[in-house]
Amino acid sequence: MTVLVTGGAGFIGSNFVFYMLDAHSDDRIVCVDALTYAGNLETLSPVMDNPAFRFVKADITDRAAMEKVFEEEKPDVVVNFAAESHVDRSIEDPGVFLNTNIIGTAVLMDTCRKYGISRFHQVSTDEVYGDLPLDRPDLFFTEETPIHTSSPYSSSKASADLLVMAYHRTYGLPVTISRCSNNYGPYQFPEKLIPLMIANALNDKPLPVYGKGENVRDWLYVEDHCKAIDLILRHAPVGETYNIGGHNEMRNIDIVRLILQRLGKDESLITYVTDRKGHDLRYAIDPTKIHKDLGWLPETKFADGIVKTIDWYLSHREWWENIISGDYQNYYRKMYGSRS
Ligand code: NAD
Ligand code: TYD
Repeated sequence: MTVLVTGGAGFIGSNFVFYMLDAHSDDRIVCVDALTYAGNLETLSPVMDNPAFRFVKADITDRAAMEKVFEEEKPDVVVNFAAESHVDRSIEDPGVFLNTNIIGTAVLMDTCRKYGISRFHQVSTDEVYGDLPLDRPDLFFTEETPIHTSSPYSSSKASADLLVMAYHRTYGLPVTISRCSNNYGPYQFPEKLIPLMIANALNDKPLPVYGKGENVRDWLYVEDHCKAIDLILRHAPVGETYNIGGHNEMRNIDIVRLILQRLGKDESLITYVTDRKGHDLRYAIDPTKIHKDLGWLPETKFADGIVKTIDWYLSHREWWENIISGDYQNYYRKMYGSRS
């Protein structure tokens, strides 16, 4: 089958492209990506010459461009990773989040309706559920947890989820949704917690921890996320939503300490900075449904995954140094300059 992957030049999308080409040699993968600041064609260079792969530079909000890709490729399945994905950027400038994450999803689904597909999969996030209190470790997000968003980012992702379910009910579009916890692994843009801390530590720069560093996230190795989506595409009934997470809750400060320890750097690099506005306290997924229905379980333990990730950033210095040498400097000054 032909799988159209949007946002495949970003972090999770590129890992998904690699995973699919590896796992299903009879499938064709077409990647559509607008190459925003977060998209990096260099990431896809190992597969650019693969005859089972095609890259198309296009914006998912561009209806004519989407129709052209569908005319040419006639995809069976669409997996929508394309999004603006960084909470801090959404606080600074929500508009582009609404455009890509909501309008872009609608344009893609309209195109799916026009040309016909067997599955539209929306890659969503656990952030649509808002947050959980720090003093109630017994509480988890299930698929029944009400949507209750905090940031412009999570609100835009929740809006897209509602549209996806509406297109299913109203037009019978064969959809599925997955809501995953925080991912980590190779090719993550160094504005996100783990790669940012690794890059700063390696450059002996301060490690900016928001607030007291006590916020909790539920971390999942990116390949486990890719496997879960693949299972959903092949085995889940249409109309279903699945939470994906690995029961791996960590406080931010503990992750930062672990990175410093692994890199042999001093904890004096840790700098506590002004907290994020509306900062979600804790995310924690109950993955019972995907385990029971599809047999999915995370395979990579955090202790192993974080070492693999740190080692990847050590051995791919050029990849992230290229990123942090350009426009990223302006971003960093703007976001962190007035924060300490
Ligand atoms: P990312 O920011 O690394 O990559 C996003 C990609 O989408 C980039 O390649 C970018 O160029 C592309 N893109 C952005 N706007 C586009 C547009 N209008 N048209 C076409 N392409 C466009 O993001 P990521 O971390 O890989 O996240 C991928 C998806 O997974 C997102 O939908 C995100 O909401 C979701 N998600 C991420 C996490 C996480 O921890 N990173 C967790 C759960 C869900
Ligand atoms: P992030 O990687 O932006 O993911 P999300 O906000 O989507 O969970 O941030 C993860 C956690 O790390 C979050 O609680 C905010 C915190 N954080 C810092 O303390 N310092 C930083 O420089 C960044 C980017 C994040």
